[in-house]
Amino acid sequence: MSETVLSETVAEGVRRITMNRPDRRNALDRASYRALIDALAEAEAASDIRAIVLTGAGGCFTSGNDIKDFAAAGAAIPRVAIDFLEAISTARKPIVAAVEGFAVGIGTTMLLHCDLAFAGRGASFRLPFVTLGLCPEGGSSYLMPLVAGPKKAAELLMLGEAFDAQAALEAGLLNAVTEEGEALGIATRKAAALAALPPESIALTKALLKRGGAAAVAETIATEARHFGERLVSAEAQAAFAAFLGRR
Ligand code: COA
Repeated sequence: MSETVLSETVAEGVRRITMNRPDRRNALDRASYRALIDALAEAEAASDIRAIVLTGAGGCFTSGNDIKDFAAAGAAIPRVAIDFLEAISTARKPIVAAVEGFAVGIGTTMLLHCDLAFAGRGASFRLPFVTLGLCPEGGSSYLMPLVAGPKKAAELLMLGEAFDAQAALEAGLLNAVTEEGEALGIATRKAAALAALPPESIALTKALLKRGGAAAVAETIATEARHFGERLVSAEAQAAFAAFLGRR
């Protein structure tokens, strides 16, 4: 098993996948994306697994893409990040997210691909793509207006300000806000409930729910990735990365 992504069976039929770089607020470097892809594929292939819980270690979901990797990426979003987005957006088994602490960048946009999502009261969300001189990713330029409405999507994706769990709930990113520290317990119980239901019927229902938007999501992820790659080497983005990495 990878050190930066933990994968454990935690209840009957439930696989928990944990982003685990707490000293980096679970920032996703290339190895972490690879390990997430492998963990998802393994859970999808395991006949005894019927639902997946996705969470982060150390009271944090994830601070998003590792900014060191961004700074060194050259004119292409790391392919492995796109592969992860493709994997999570096309997963066949239900995914339940449990968020505590920070969910930044892809940490927020990956919630758009989870079937259910719960966050503790103290969770903080942010889509700082423009702040970093970048552009939306993960299909968010298509999905955010759908779930949040166009005005809210523009506010969150253009201003890039942090928003709390209640605002995330109102924006359609969550099913419920829990007491602080209780998101994982509730997400695990909901995953166990999904795992106890007829698996073929669950898989069909998920496929039907995703069907209408699937082609647009795939096309948007690919289009955003092309622009994102160009933005990575822009003067605006390189200045933002240097400011973050050199702040102390
Ligand atoms: N990439 C690389 N390193 C990161 C990181 C990221 N996305 N997020 C945090 N880290 C590192 C910090 O540089 C810091 O390293 P240091 O201990 O060597 O100084 C360490 O993780 C802890 O982060 P810190 O900022 O001290 O924690 P915090 O609790 O005060 O703040 C965040 C947490 C998530 C709000 C803040 O780290 C942050 O804004 N990170 C960047 C998020 C981001 O812009 N992601 C990209 C989105 S596209």
